[in-house]
Amino acid sequence: MSEALFASELERERSTARLRLRPFGLGDVEAVLAYSRKPGFARHLPLPLPETGAYTRDDAEERLARLRLADWSVDATWALCLANDPSDAPIGSVRLSLDAPNYKADLGYALDPDRWGQGYAREAVRATLDHAFETWPSLAKVECHSTADNAASRRLAEAVGMRHEGRLRRFVVIRGRAVDIDWFGLLRAEWERA
Ligand SMILES: CC(C)(COP(=O)(O)OP(=O)(O)OC[C@H]1O[C@@H](n2cnc3c(N)ncnc32)[C@H](O)[C@@H]1OP(=O)(O)O)[C@@H](O)C(=O)NCCC(=O)NCCS
Repeated sequence: MSEALFASELERERSTARLRLRPFGLGDVEAVLAYSRKPGFARHLPLPLPETGAYTRDDAEERLARLRLADWSVDATWALCLANDPSDAPIGSVRLSLDAPNYKADLGYALDPDRWGQGYAREAVRATLDHAFETWPSLAKVECHSTADNAASRRLAEAVGMRHEGRLRRFVVIRGRAVDIDWFGLLRAEWERA
C-alpha cells in the first residue's frame, strides 16, 4: 500500500551545474578503488582502512556488484562524475534508501578526498533532495547519520538544510571502537521553505 505512494522511480541519470549523476557500472572499479584507498576516505566509515591496503579490489568489485543488483525503486546509488570530464570516472557517490512504510528516506554520501572542499557533495546532495521530494509527493522526511566526529559530514548536512536531531551514544563499533552517531533530518515543510 505505502509502496504505491512511491510508485514513480527516481531518475537514474541526472545532471547538475558541474556534475553528471549516473548508476555505477562494473567498469568503475579502478576509479572507486583509487579514491576509496586515499588517506582519510574511510576514517568515519565502517570499512577496513583503505590506506593500509585492507580495502581490496574484491571489496570494490563486490560493492559495485551489489549496487548493480540493488532495487532502484527503493535503493538508489548514483556515481558522481564531473560533467566536463570525458572519462566519466566517478569522484564519489550519493545514495538514497527508501523506507516507504514510514514515508522517509535515508541519505548517504562520499567523495574522493582530492575533491573535498569544492562543493561537489553539496551540489549532488541538494539536487538529490530536490529530486526525491519532487518525485515522491508522499515523502515526509529525509534523514542521514554520521559519526559524531565527522565534521565535514555535519557541515554538509546542515548546509543542505538538515537539522541535527540527536546523538546516539556508542551506537556502532567501527574498527573495534564504539562510537557515537549523530542523526540529521529534513522534513518536507523545511525543504519547501528552503
Ligand atoms: C562528507 C563529505 C562528502 C563532505 O565533502 P566536502 O567536500 O567537505 O563537502 P562539499 O562538497 O559540500 O564542500 C563543501 C565545501 O566546499 C566549499 N565550496 C567551494 N566551492 C563551492 C561551491 N561552488 N558550492 C558550494 N560549496 C563550495 C564550501 O565553502 C565548503 O567548505 P566549508 O564546509 O568549509 O564551508 C566528505 O568529507 C567525504 O566524502 N567524507 C568521507 C565519506 C564520509 O564520511 N561520508 C559521510 C558518511 S554518511
